[in-house]
Amino acid sequence: MSNEIISEITASKISTSAAGESLKMNVAKRLEGVGEYYFSQKLREIDDMNKTGKQVINLGIGSPDLPPHADVLQTLHDEAIKPNQHGYQNYKGSPILRNAISTWYKKWYNVNLNADTEILPLIGSKEGIMHICMTYLNDGDKVLIPNPGYPTYKSAVKIAGGNVVEYTLTKENNWYPDFTALEKTDLQKVKLMFVNYPQMPTGQVPTKEHFTELIAFARKHHILLIHDNPYSFILNDTPLSLLGIEGAKGIVIELNSLSKSHNMAGWRIGMLTGAKERIDEVLRFKSNMDSGMFLPMQLAAAKALQSGKDFHDDVNKVYKKRRDKVIELLQLLNCSFDEKQVGLFMWAAIPAKYKDGYELSDKVLHKSNVFITPGGIFGNAGDKYVRVSLCSTEEKIIEAIDRIKKTL
Ligand SMILES: Cc1ncc(COP(=O)(O)O)c(C=O)c1O
Repeated sequence: MSNEIISEITASKISTSAAGESLKMNVAKRLEGVGEYYFSQKLREIDDMNKTGKQVINLGIGSPDLPPHADVLQTLHDEAIKPNQHGYQNYKGSPILRNAISTWYKKWYNVNLNADTEILPLIGSKEGIMHICMTYLNDGDKVLIPNPGYPTYKSAVKIAGGNVVEYTLTKENNWYPDFTALEKTDLQKVKLMFVNYPQMPTGQVPTKEHFTELIAFARKHHILLIHDNPYSFILNDTPLSLLGIEGAKGIVIELNSLSKSHNMAGWRIGMLTGAKERIDEVLRFKSNMDSGMFLPMQLAAAKALQSGKDFHDDVNKVYKKRRDKVIELLQLLNCSFDEKQVGLFMWAAIPAKYKDGYELSDKVLHKSNVFITPGGIFGNAGDKYVRVSLCSTEEKIIEAIDRIKKTL
């Protein structure tokens, strides 16, 4: 290679590199406009406060603190101590897990899925969002994403080179997409649409009518719907799958997860379901990114999916009590909210005296050492809201209420 070419390559890689200094790298253009995940930054700030003895009560993140079913832990243990369970696994996941997912979808959602062809286990549904974007998006393809909505949709679309087109969800429209407004926009280059019901952060449940409308809209405009469904078992008596709507399989990929429903967020186990073609397409990308998960975890996850209604009822009993306390906390802050929300959070409108949810969140953090999430991180339609998680013990929520009473 000529010296000229070498120095050209070096210029594109490094801005300065004095002897002994760590290289200063220019990150790829695809990361432009994609910052560090909000919670990753905020947890650092909370850690710093804790180091100074503040003992912040974190009511921000939706990471279930209750344990998985005891049988799940036993299965993990029994399988992990076997000597022959430690090798690479099938890229498509263990057939035992895929069969368990298929049985689970039939039992709870009344959806038939072929365990061999219509299911792809994932390392959490978050990675599935990225895989889908990398599988389908070319530069400039448009993707509809909800505002407010899970922030990962936006960053995954951007990283994959797609163009984000936000659709606004409003309280007046029950946090459902306004199809009339959407149809007045140019939908020509829209390839994917992310939807998520029960909706995070608003806690809105889906109805069959709403799901049927979604399918009709997507079919009319040739859009692949990506339904993200991790909250259907939390404080919700009727889990629904978008795949349960007639004719949905051809135009829907559904993401699901054991993180919230089975208290297994740290295990990183999710799934992608849909038509065989979709599974094969996504697998072309995913099989180049990672390998199958540790087999004992897959077998323990299969066990978790066999949990009966008792398991979910017990977990929901705990969340209900916590929700009552969170309601007290929100009333104390003069926030207003719908009590019929489902999922792991309460979403609440802030009083008019605050500019936005960031102001209220910062005030509660710095005066009372309690962290609640500003709604604006889910998109500007959430600016006037805050979100409070149910993933802390009742005692902690009571303590947070006491702190706020004493300090605000
Ligand atoms: C709407 C939504 N989708 C997906 C995820 C990611 O879930 P998982 O743990 O399965 O990656 C979350 C996690 O908070 C979420 O709120």
